[in-house]
Amino acid sequence: MKAMTYRQYGGPDAVRLSEVPIPSPKPNEVLIRILATTVTSADWRARSLRLPAGFGVFGRLVFGITRPRQPILGTELAGIVESIGREVTRFRAGDEVIAFTGGRFGCHAEYRTMAEDGMIALKPANLTFEEAASLSFGALNALPFLRDKARIGRGDRVLVVGASGGVGTAAIQISRHFGASVTAVTSKTNMALVLSIGADRAIDYTEVDFTTTGETWDIIFDTTGTVPFSRCEKSLKPGGRLVAVQGTFMQWLGVGSPSNASGKQVITGVARANPDDLRYIANLSAGGEFKPVIDRIYRLEDAVEAHEYVDTGRKRGSVVLRVATDRK
Ligand SMILES: NC(=O)c1ccc[n+]([C@@H]2O[C@H](COP(=O)([O-])OP(=O)(O)OC[C@H]3O[C@@H](n4cnc5c(N)ncnc54)[C@H](OP(=O)(O)O)[C@@H]3O)[C@@H](O)[C@H]2O)c1
Repeated sequence: MKAMTYRQYGGPDAVRLSEVPIPSPKPNEVLIRILATTVTSADWRARSLRLPAGFGVFGRLVFGITRPRQPILGTELAGIVESIGREVTRFRAGDEVIAFTGGRFGCHAEYRTMAEDGMIALKPANLTFEEAASLSFGALNALPFLRDKARIGRGDRVLVVGASGGVGTAAIQISRHFGASVTAVTSKTNMALVLSIGADRAIDYTEVDFTTTGETWDIIFDTTGTVPFSRCEKSLKPGGRLVAVQGTFMQWLGVGSPSNASGKQVITGVARANPDDLRYIANLSAGGEFKPVIDRIYRLEDAVEAHEYVDTGRKRGSVVLRVATDRK
């Protein structure tokens, strides 16, 4: 099968079109023919080993000491079940599905196997394969951070910094789903986008520093790494939570975090989603409550260009790779 592979760390041109064997499903797995996948910030980090401050030394431990352990990037996909292992009961050949492989990657290819009880769900019928492929990465990061770690509640005021990115566009919609009001911090170019997906207000960070407005929020959800607690402490309400999605090693260790007595909290780490969460997001999307945001669509073979664009740090929502081009 065709796959985009990277055999060494580096820039976008570390990624090459390759021919690799089609994986065989184990008894409990399905084989999916991939029709669309995405290039995300996770692919950029795994490919370049550019990690948040303090994590540099861990990069090779996680992704491979001398070279990438998993040569095929891609954390999410949409496609059609091609065949099933003999023990599989939940899916059958021909089912249209979405799947999230997260840190196991492997979606920038024509086929991928998934355990039937893993992060795989039926594709919402109202979405195209490109839209469906863009559902999970942002949402499955924003959902556990907001719902499980920050315990978002109805009426909360949420500030999303980096609101136009893959995680930010999901955070806006999930916050609204839980009954919060959302202020989006973005640049002028992306104001209309963030308002169109549910933000109540938008602040252009090139003109206004939200920390100087005197306003306060229950949750500050920062995907950009530009809002340490020291910068936003006064912008958090009593009991307020800073969610540092792009947390530094020091933040993971709790350095610079407030004391318990302050009642404020810094939340960071890794978002842990489960298969129910994937079905939850798919249902929201089927009901029109969650809309994947697609910036650009490339062919799988043009993944180098897609990586170049993702590397700019300016993408809006998702950058899609269309894997099969011959379908109707
Ligand atoms: N902890 C975890 O488990 C976890 C999971 C997923 C992702 N992450 C991390 O989260 C970060 C964001 O991921 P992503 O996929 O959302 O990235 P992304 O899609 O590449 O984000 C790009 C967006 O960020 C916006 N942006 C850049 N600088 C900004 C600033 N100073 N203020 C406001 N907006 C700004 C850009 O908008 P403008 O062009 O308007 O500036 C652009 O639309 C990454 O660092 C990623 O590694 C962590």
